[in-house]
Formats: sequence, C-alpha cells, structure tokens
Amino acid sequence: MTKTLERPSEPNRLGPESRVLVTGGFGFLGGHLLEQLIDEGVAQIHVVDDLSTNPVSVEVLLDDLPDNSVLTYDITTIANYLKSGPDDFDVILHLASVVGPAGVLEHGGRIISSIVDDTYALADYSLERGSRLVDVSTSEIYGGGRDGLCSEDDSKIVPAETSYRLEYAVGKLAAETALINLNTRVDLDVTIVRPFNIAGPRQSGAGGFVLPRFLAQARLGLPLTVFGDGEARRAFSHVSDLCDGIIRAAKFGEGGVAYNLGNHENVLTVGDLADRVLALTGSRSEKQFIDPRTIYGPDFTEANDKFPAAGRAISELGWKPQGGVDEILRDTWDYMVAASPETFANLAGPKLMEQLVESQTQEAISR
Ligand SMILES: NC(=O)c1ccc[n+]([C@@H]2O[C@H](COP(=O)([O-])OP(=O)(O)OC[C@H]3O[C@@H](n4cnc5c(N)ncnc54)[C@H](O)[C@@H]3O)[C@@H](O)[C@H]2O)c1
Repeated sequence: MTKTLERPSEPNRLGPESRVLVTGGFGFLGGHLLEQLIDEGVAQIHVVDDLSTNPVSVEVLLDDLPDNSVLTYDITTIANYLKSGPDDFDVILHLASVVGPAGVLEHGGRIISSIVDDTYALADYSLERGSRLVDVSTSEIYGGGRDGLCSEDDSKIVPAETSYRLEYAVGKLAAETALINLNTRVDLDVTIVRPFNIAGPRQSGAGGFVLPRFLAQARLGLPLTVFGDGEARRAFSHVSDLCDGIIRAAKFGEGGVAYNLGNHENVLTVGDLADRVLALTGSRSEKQFIDPRTIYGPDFTEANDKFPAAGRAISELGWKPQGGVDEILRDTWDYMVAASPETFANLAGPKLMEQLVESQTQEAISR
C-alpha cells in the first residue's frame, strides 16, 4: 500500500533528522515500522530486541527491508540495553512486550512487571535525554467497552475473573497510566497508541493470532479451527495502516494523550473471517468449531467483542486506515505462500505444526 502523510502542522517531532530507537523492532509490527521509517528517510534507526517472539529470523526481515543503511541493532533485552549506556535518541517507539492470547500464557504472574518495568526504564531514559516516547499499548485495556465499541472516553472494565490475559491488559493500563501522570507532573513527552486487532504479512500464529493460523491451515489442507461459536466480533487493521498511525502519533500526537488505532470498517465475526479465508485461498479445508482450551490448556481466555471508535486518531492525527479485509488477507497470504519452508513453519506456529504431524500420522494409520 502507498501512503501519503498529509496532515496538519505542528508539532512534528519525527522527521528526517531524527534518531529513532525502536524497541521490539524485529517483531511483527516492528518490521513494518522499520520499512516505513526507512521510507520516511529518518537519519538513524536503532533496534533493541531480545528475539523472544520475533516472527521471522532477523536475516529474513533484513532481506525484506528496502534499505538497511541507517539501521543498527542490539540483540538484548530493554533492561540490559539501557544499562549499557545507549546513545541519545530523539524519538523512542516502544513496541517490545509479551503479546498474544497464547503468547502471554508462559509468562503468567510476571507479565505486569515485565511491561511496567520496561516502560518505567524507558520513561526515565526519555526524561533524562529529552526524547519523545510513543508507547504502543493495546485495546485490551478497555475490557470490552460498550458491546464491543471502545472509545478513549469510555471507562475501562475489569472483569471479575483473573486471567493471564487480564494481567496483560492491566499491565498495559498501569504503564499507560504512569506515563500520562509523568506527562502531567514532570512533562514527560509521551503519546500512547492503543491498537485493536492487527494482521498482515509476517504475523505469526505462535502467539495465538487467528489470521496466520487460518491461512496456514488453509495452505496445509487442515481444518480451520474457529474458537467457540465463531460469533466473536473483531475489526482487523492492516499492519501497514497501524504503523502509519504510530508514525503519525510520533509526529503529531499530543503529550499525555492516548489514541485508538483500528479500522472500524473491517468489523466481522471470526466465523466470517474463516469463510473469507476459504474463499480467497480456494482451499478445500472446512471450518471446525472448537474450544481453544483443548489446544492451549485451561488458562487460555478469549477476548470480548471489541472494535474501535478511532475518531480521535482520524481527526487529530490525520490517520486514514485504508486496508480492507480482502487486502489484509491477500497480502498476508501472498507473503505466506512465497515464504521458505522454515519461515512458513515460524508463521504457522508450533501448535499448528503439531496439528499437521498429528493429522499426517492419523492418515498414515488409517491407510
Ligand atoms: N499484534 C497485535 O494484534 C497487537 C494488538 C494490540 C497491541 N499490540 C502491541 O504491539 C506491540 C508489538 O506487537 P507485535 O504483534 O509486533 O508482537 P511481536 O511479538 O511480533 O513483537 C514484539 C517484539 O519484541 C521483542 N521483545 C519482547 N520483549 C522484549 C524485551 N523485554 N526486550 C527486548 N525485546 C523484546 C520480541 O522478541 C519481538 O520481536 C506490543 O507492545 C503489543 O502489545 C499488538
């Protein structure tokens, strides 16, 4: 997709002279953000990523980028990186985090501290060096909104039942709240974005994300595993639109303000998404409705219906999400089909590769 950044005036903190630090820059969103920052012509991009959940290898990602000449990186945690006495950066885009309905499971009980500790460390660094910080939070902080519709003016809902997923949401909300208060009290230059469901090339099903799972199942001729009754409603945004929103937030976002980023026009049920995948790929797979806990165990929890009211980002950042569902599906499918077997296995995720071995074994036994 091609994008034009025509919007408003001041302030514009991200520009050609900028030295930009991207935490989690080798992740799904991170890779697309690097592409867009390179297109923007920024002076320097430094990535810090511990490669705990990067969806494709660094080599594959670097190969996908249009030009690596302004890119440097450290493969380490944020905590270690900040201890090592890093350079000065004008802008910090903070993406690194535990993420995904399955991705959070192995971190239960430590999710809040990992999110909050890293955010505080980056806030202190930003205050010390005068950097502008963009915190990538999540729509999960709303806890469901009004029948799924979530606006920045809504109250947040904390469900009665504690879960690892709730810990992720509460950790992100705690981090946001501290950042907003630091903006008020000590003038931390911070803007927050809250992405809703994102999809696109290089997303991996390993964290429990639905679209790469469906596409990989369609490619392998396995049933598309739809959780519950398939009626859960989501609004997927193209990763490229999302990254455009993050860049706009870095350029135009107001200090201490949070912006929803999600494409409301793309609302559909997960069952419908499976049908669209089958139609696009021409796969002969069928939908199979299952309880996700049979795959991920008893600690797995599904999100409520959720979709964005994104009026604030549209009017204040000039954000115009463009990628419709078909474009998201096509771009993600094209990347998956062109991927090497090793990259395809990473994108499908380990649970699906187990499902493949199981189905091949069953087939062999029944022959
Ligand atoms: N993917 C979505 O649908 C979605 C939706 C809402 C919000 N978000 C947020 O967007 C951000 C990026 O998500 P993503 O989907 O690209 O995830 P991802 O797992 O693909 O990328 C995260 C990257 O951060 C790295 N990382 C994690 N913890 C780290 C640490 N402590 N130090 C250094 N590196 C670390 C990982 O190795 C990975 O490369 C996250 O903050 C997530 O909460 C994502």
